Amino acid sequence: MNIGIIVYSHTGNTLSVAEKLEEQLVKAGHAVKIEKVMADNEDQMEADKVQLRRIPDISLYDALIFGSPVRGFSLCAVMTAYLSQLATLKEKKVFCYLTQFFPSPMMGGNRAMEQMKKICETKGGKVSEYGIVNWSNLRRSKMISDITEKIGGLL
Ligand SMILES: Cc1cc2nc3c(=O)[nH]c(=O)nc-3n(C[C@H](O)[C@H](O)[C@H](O)COP(=O)(O)O)c2cc1C
Repeated sequence: MNIGIIVYSHTGNTLSVAEKLEEQLVKAGHAVKIEKVMADNEDQMEADKVQLRRIPDISLYDALIFGSPVRGFSLCAVMTAYLSQLATLKEKKVFCYLTQFFPSPMMGGNRAMEQMKKICETKGGKVSEYGIVNWSNLRRSKMISDITEKIGGLL
């Protein structure tokens, strides 16, 4: 399967999870490409004021994995802006993951994931599987491997 991992990452945490996913999915025989979303004003907290500079084209992929950090107990504005401008997610397999600093998903991750899933749904996509990595949690490595297993198992 042709898989695009579409990721926004400022300090590299979300990207490092994308690289682990890529490694596992390539091992399983898939064609995988990591594509970075970029913006000119990355610190902007309001999605409608984000100026996207790099807007990955999803038409090339059968399956999409969107990865993003949590910011201010919400889906970060750059990923919100990117997902919001997509034309459609119909006919695609869709997966999502988030990274956040705090140790529990109750500290912003769950809320951000609901926002992420909702935008995907408004684009006609159903999120088949998702996960949250709590960077300061001692079980971080296990959280990452759980996500790669869950997503890998459905592709
Ligand atoms: C402005 C800002 C707001 C943040 N807000 C939250 C938050 O609400 N909850 C949380 O757990 N982490 C928060 N973080 C931490 C990031 O979500 C976390 O470090 C993430 O893994 C960064 O991903 P990246 O390295 O891919 O950019 C915030 C970070 C920044 C810079």
